[in-house]
Amino acid sequence: MSEMIREILVAAAGEVEAAADERVLKEVEVKYLGKKGLVTGLMNRMRELTPAERPGFGKSVNEAKDTIQRQIDSRRNGLKAQVLMKEVADPFYDPTLPGLPEVEGSLHPLTVITQELEEIFRSMGFIIPDYPEAESEFFNFEALNIPSDHPARDMQDTFWLKDGNLLRTHTSPGQVRAMREFAPPFRAIFPGKVYRYEAVDASHEHTFHQVEGLMVDREVSVANLIHSMKVLLGRIFKRDVKIRLRPGYFPFVEPGFELDIECAVCGGKGCSVCKKSGWVELLPCGLVHPNVIRFGGLDPTEWHGWAFGLGLSRLVMMKYQVNDIRHLMGGDLRFLEQFR
Ligand code: DAH
Repeated sequence: MSEMIREILVAAAGEVEAAADERVLKEVEVKYLGKKGLVTGLMNRMRELTPAERPGFGKSVNEAKDTIQRQIDSRRNGLKAQVLMKEVADPFYDPTLPGLPEVEGSLHPLTVITQELEEIFRSMGFIIPDYPEAESEFFNFEALNIPSDHPARDMQDTFWLKDGNLLRTHTSPGQVRAMREFAPPFRAIFPGKVYRYEAVDASHEHTFHQVEGLMVDREVSVANLIHSMKVLLGRIFKRDVKIRLRPGYFPFVEPGFELDIECAVCGGKGCSVCKKSGWVELLPCGLVHPNVIRFGGLDPTEWHGWAFGLGLSRLVMMKYQVNDIRHLMGGDLRFLEQFR
């Protein structure tokens, strides 16, 4: 048996020395030290020995294994060095050339703005509850004072699911869910993806992002709402943004407003994003309709609220002057890499 070990050692040493590159060396390594290798195979022959011979034999096999492994490692280092020396000796080899740049990922601009908003609102005492993307007709429409025969349903073309539910067409369903879940007074925001079955163009996507805001308290006024929206916009844009307020109709608020900001892409001159008007609808808002408060399980004579639905995709476009909404979800690296 020990004769066999010696023979294997001699053969292995010869093959290791003869291995001309790392690939061949790997084959030699597998042949001797692999799971089904020759050295490993020796251990299986332990049975043929007397109990007294076994410990000594086991020790020799382990030593042989270590020896061969050391020879292989040293040969591998030698081969690596040879390859390197050859490269260095090449007359065209230029060690002063800059290395390859490391490709580093980055956060999507929508993620960056969402995190920024969450930070701003958290600091003002808002909570950020979770709520479903596949929503029931009840929470998406009914409870928001949009019964099935209401024309407002046509304004939000809907992706219906086979089970009768739908992909939420806006973040507003979060309002009623929160009213049912949390004891008033409370403030909450609901960032998230929303879906609409519509033709895609420079300012419309089937999948886009909104942030809903809701404050429920005993005393809530329009003045309070407008002030809050101004503070919010100032903190988002970190500068004075020109705004205008128009009356707006949404079934779930009364009164309702459309808050527009001056288009930052063209500076108010008119472009494809603002449809040549110089203004962009960014922040519809209003006082929560008593019916909605009631659907939320609260008494509208006691509790009032304001709400807004911020167009997050629009906001990103304004902030970074992106002129086509399709860039946002398009996944084109040439676009995304600009936000490193
Ligand atoms: N949910 C509306 C939409 O997607 C936006 C909206 C308007 C939300 C007014 C509100 C609001 O909270 O008060 O078109």
